[in-house]
Amino acid sequence: MPKPRNILVAVAWPYASGPRHLGHLGGAYLPADIFARYHRLAGNDVLMVSGSDVHGTPITVRAEQEGVPPQEIVDRYHGEFLEAWEKVGIAWDLYTSTGTENHHEVTQDVFSRLAEGGYIEARSSDQLFDPEAERFLPDRYVEGTCPHCGYDAARGDQCDNCGRQLDPVDLIAPKSRLTGATPEMRPTEHYFLLLSKFQDRLLEWLRSRRGWRKHVQNMAIGFTEGGLKDRAITRDLEWGVTIPSPYDTIGDGKRIYVWFDAVIGYLSAAVEWAKNSHDPDAWKAWWENPDAESYYFIGKDNVVFHAVIWPCQLMGYGGLNLPTDVPANQYITFKGDKASASRGVGRSIGWYADRLEPDALRYSIAAILPEQNDTDLSDDQMISRINEELVATWGNLVNRVLSITAKNFESAVPEPGSLTEADRGLLDTIDQALGEVAASIEKVELRAGLRRAMDGAQTVNAYLNAEEPWKVLKTDRERGATVLWTALQAISGLRVALTPYLPFTSDRLGEILGLAPASGWARPDLAGGHPIGDVQPLFTKLEADALDE
Ligand code: MF3
Ligand code: ZN
Repeated sequence: MPKPRNILVAVAWPYASGPRHLGHLGGAYLPADIFARYHRLAGNDVLMVSGSDVHGTPITVRAEQEGVPPQEIVDRYHGEFLEAWEKVGIAWDLYTSTGTENHHEVTQDVFSRLAEGGYIEARSSDQLFDPEAERFLPDRYVEGTCPHCGYDAARGDQCDNCGRQLDPVDLIAPKSRLTGATPEMRPTEHYFLLLSKFQDRLLEWLRSRRGWRKHVQNMAIGFTEGGLKDRAITRDLEWGVTIPSPYDTIGDGKRIYVWFDAVIGYLSAAVEWAKNSHDPDAWKAWWENPDAESYYFIGKDNVVFHAVIWPCQLMGYGGLNLPTDVPANQYITFKGDKASASRGVGRSIGWYADRLEPDALRYSIAAILPEQNDTDLSDDQMISRINEELVATWGNLVNRVLSITAKNFESAVPEPGSLTEADRGLLDTIDQALGEVAASIEKVELRAGLRRAMDGAQTVNAYLNAEEPWKVLKTDRERGATVLWTALQAISGLRVALTPYLPFTSDRLGEILGLAPASGWARPDLAGGHPIGDVQPLFTKLEADALDE
């Protein structure tokens, strides 16, 4: 047995400011979960963490619109997310939030350490101020025209049209979202993270990464080559992590900027997980051990924060691992439109989870993960993929083999006769498929891994159509038994390959086959005489209107 690897699966922290949709599921949560489940099966020590991002203007703007305290918004959506993860089977080691005391402490520790290292400095700058509301307008409190693409509903922190990060002062024709007033410029004091100090080190590190997705590496390098500018990491807000002493002297009503604290969540969640475990230092195996690996599952709009700014924070802190890979996804679009929580495009994860079996939902997304390009999705396409691929290729295969076996061999795996070349060939193909699925998942090519597993299922179908055990059984019972034995072994292998993608039905299939939940990335043998439980179809075929309102 090779030594287990320490794998940190770090997954984007969703803002607890509104429902998350299938774009988020396919962009971060599902790929992370597939990757983590694979590594656990392969015997590695996985720590998969995330939590709700409860700070920043996405939360406070929403709270002000509804006239409720920010905590009420946070509690509502945090609860909704927890339910969604449960339904879809996102198997966290810890899903927490940035509202914990632990997170605030870890964030303040990182802030202080960077300040002591000379990487944080107080500066005065001109920021937008609403003369009617008499307050500063950070980030999403302002809307205006994007200076890059001309989109007229760009937010102060980001343009939803071209995806670029913005600063409110860059907006053309800015308007206050509080009063509609045209903001004025007023000086205010803030802490800045001196990113410019990391320029050379970061660029060298980014250029020497191997195996990163081209679009991620190019975006991070391009951004850095453009020149890293020092960035404000505090805001004029009453909601967020407070500035630690002795740095809390730049005036009242200031908080640490949400993005500075949110990425620190990956570290603070590991610390929280360790505090809850037998060993409060256990987090170090993923953060300080130089052999540990870390993978950040995010959407492409978060690349700069994870592949540029977070590595700078880590470099400045010292002694903590930089990301091994940031396999950011492109967007899932719906009829060409990007799903967006802030614009209300795309229905929530929970909505789909209430209407589809969890593995059917997982399959329909895993098959189209936007790993290299934006990928369009529609309800019709989901339904036809589920019916024509998942049910027709895999579900029916399992059902057909188990039913014939149950009927002809008293619900037990038959004893095989001697294997033909075709039988041995099939088992070799399945074992090879397991190896190839593993290789794809290791490279975070999850869509290809699923394809390979489904091709394996197709190969078993072709084998059965050629061998026709249902006919052979009538004339040559031993040959029929051998074919079914072989098909059952193949199914047992494919079940393992599909477990990261389809955990619910793989467990159910394991129960029918009398196997313990899959453990180990190898095909478990089903010996002759091994009992087979009640045969129930793994999936149901969907009606064409299954996703109609
Ligand atoms: N809250 C952000 C969003 O929903 C993502 C934060 S990811 C983290 O887009 F790295 F900062 F945690
Ligand atoms: Zn734009």
